[in-house]
Amino acid sequence: MEALVRRHSLAVLPGDGVGPEVIDAALAVLDAAQERFGFATDRVEVPLGADHYLATGQLLTDDVTATLREQDAILFGAIGSPKVAPGILEHGIILALRGAMKQAINLRPVRLYPGVPTPIAGLTPERCDLVIVRENTEGSYVARGSTVHAGTPAQVAVQESINTWYAVERAVDFAYRLASARRKKLTLCHKTNVLVEAGKLWLAVMEQVGERYPDVEQDYVHVDAMCMHLPVSPERFDVVVTDNLFGDIVTDLGAVLQGGLGVAASGNLNLVGTHPSMFEPIHGSAPDIAGKGWANPAGACLSMAMMLGHLGEGQAAAAVEAATTAVLAELPALAGADMGANTSELGQRIASRLRDDSAPPVKDSLMSDLATVMTGLRS
Ligand code: NAI
Ligand code: MG
Repeated sequence: MEALVRRHSLAVLPGDGVGPEVIDAALAVLDAAQERFGFATDRVEVPLGADHYLATGQLLTDDVTATLREQDAILFGAIGSPKVAPGILEHGIILALRGAMKQAINLRPVRLYPGVPTPIAGLTPERCDLVIVRENTEGSYVARGSTVHAGTPAQVAVQESINTWYAVERAVDFAYRLASARRKKLTLCHKTNVLVEAGKLWLAVMEQVGERYPDVEQDYVHVDAMCMHLPVSPERFDVVVTDNLFGDIVTDLGAVLQGGLGVAASGNLNLVGTHPSMFEPIHGSAPDIAGKGWANPAGACLSMAMMLGHLGEGQAAAAVEAATTAVLAELPALAGADMGANTSELGQRIASRLRDDSAPPVKDSLMSDLATVMTGLRS
């Protein structure tokens, strides 16, 4: 009789441009992780993206939503093409997915791994290991507002930012929980001195939820000051929680610290397990290098590691993180023709480091912390 193995169902959305290239590499690494750690995945590939849209006119349909909903997790590449006007795919697919799957927060680790070059002079891995928790459903991203007197010099635009106690509390509680599993410090990043109404709500939630986490130190920085502190003194931060718009902006700065777009990973998390969470490298479809094998698959592989942590495969997650970052440290360049190998070869290289267990372990792996935090949430 066949032994019982842990099974996870995955929707794979490669998307456009370099999306399919980095996802192929990440799936090769996933195969190796399954062999070594004894679990299995059932994968269904979903053809969303520019080509599919141009051929069929379809964005996220009800049928696709229903299929995705049945899966344990979604692994996403990138979408976008010069052939489709900006905004259509972003709103119709990415934002639509985050909403439909009730992915309450966007989790962005900012970690400089040993041997990875950073443009910030003097920055060392010991000083750069933080996680940004971005509220993922509201703020200025609710697309609410209005325009009057359009096309005249009297045009008026109103763009609203919505902040509900419910969504803010959900994000802040997760951030405390994560901080509690890490170095026990949570920083709120906002602009409470100017955005007074939203600021009051965020501060009150921080204080009230903080009572449940007496072991976590509370800190606050304004978002403009954050742009100075983050590159100069990232060691100040452990977990940072912030609103949708501020999070969008400061996480790009975070990606710079850790070596750029090819390296940075993210997860859109459904915190209650009613719908699947979605994991994606933060880069786009990179049409300028698509088809050349020049995309670094590390961001996709680290996103896949976060997915494993989220699925409760903490050991596999930490091992994928270790293998990916060991290979990263050996690269002569992080992107383009100078990487010394193409995207697919890098995927194979990471997979073999994983198979032969030859990568040094990563200290304090977020990926395995995540497994603990998520298990605690669902129980
Ligand atoms: P991009 O992230 O695709 O590319 C920016 C620069 O980074 C390019 O020079 C590219 O070659 C490089 N790059 C990106 N990923 C890389 C990787 N893995 N390894 C090495 N170099 C890499 O952003 P861009 O050019 O602004 O957007 C291109 C398309 O992607 C647009 O259609 C945009 O809307 C879409 N996009 C999609 C996202 C998503 O699916 N989540 C996120 C960002 C952009
Ligand atoms: Mg962004």
